[in-house]
Amino acid sequence: MNPLNHVAIIMDGNGRWGLKYKNSRNAGHKVGLNTVEKIIKETIKNRINFLTLFAFSTENWKRPKKEINYLFGLLENFLINRIEDLHKQNIKLKILGSKKFSPKLNKLLRNSERKTLNNTKLQINLALNYGSKSELIDAFKRIKKNKSTITEKNLSRNLQTKNIPDPDLLIRTGNTKRLSNFLLWQLAYSEIFFEKKLWPAFNVKDYNRIIKEYKLIKRNFGRI
Ligand code: IPE
Ligand code: IPE
Ligand code: MG
Repeated sequence: MNPLNHVAIIMDGNGRWGLKYKNSRNAGHKVGLNTVEKIIKETIKNRINFLTLFAFSTENWKRPKKEINYLFGLLENFLINRIEDLHKQNIKLKILGSKKFSPKLNKLLRNSERKTLNNTKLQINLALNYGSKSELIDAFKRIKKNKSTITEKNLSRNLQTKNIPDPDLLIRTGNTKRLSNFLLWQLAYSEIFFEKKLWPAFNVKDYNRIIKEYKLIKRNFGRI
């Protein structure tokens, strides 16, 4: 059976779910947060060490201001209400992406990272204002500035994911089969599951079914 150290998730489909059941995209984002809570719990149960969640892409700024503000409001409340408990559960929070939000949210994010820095049970990487292409460009710029050589190792350690092993498993909910600028380098050898269900409808049973199937895959890494 394959070990499972790192799960990455593109949490897609909140808007469609919200429109369908509550006549509001934002309502879908709110319910999507419940799925996040359940998946975190189940990730710990499965003794997985890293969980990376794609919450807001560099391209998501193209959405209406009202939706963007609602999303960041949700995140603010989540951090204010839940960080203490996550800390007690020995969870480490790391933000991927550039922190270019309101001063209040930037500070909350920095404080949450600082508070949980030495926790060891589960590392949650929250990808916020994250785009893989800009992450790669920044890495190349840094390598050039330091006059180092371009090698796989050097590139990996200049990414925001330095010190984080590549995902073993990527799950994308919401019935679309694309990566949407997420971890293009790091997903080179990940097992990918595209799930039809929208994120608010995705549940622990679905998650465990995918994990079970993942564990039985023959991972070749080029070998036979
Ligand atoms: C994913 O759900 C969450 C974010 C991008 C913030 P969407 O908001 O993209 O939901 P759909 O894809 O429009 O249904
Ligand atoms: C990907 O979902 C980003 C997140 C889940 C945060 P999108 O809904 O933004 O992706 P596209 O635009 O449909 O590719
Ligand atoms: Mg979407």
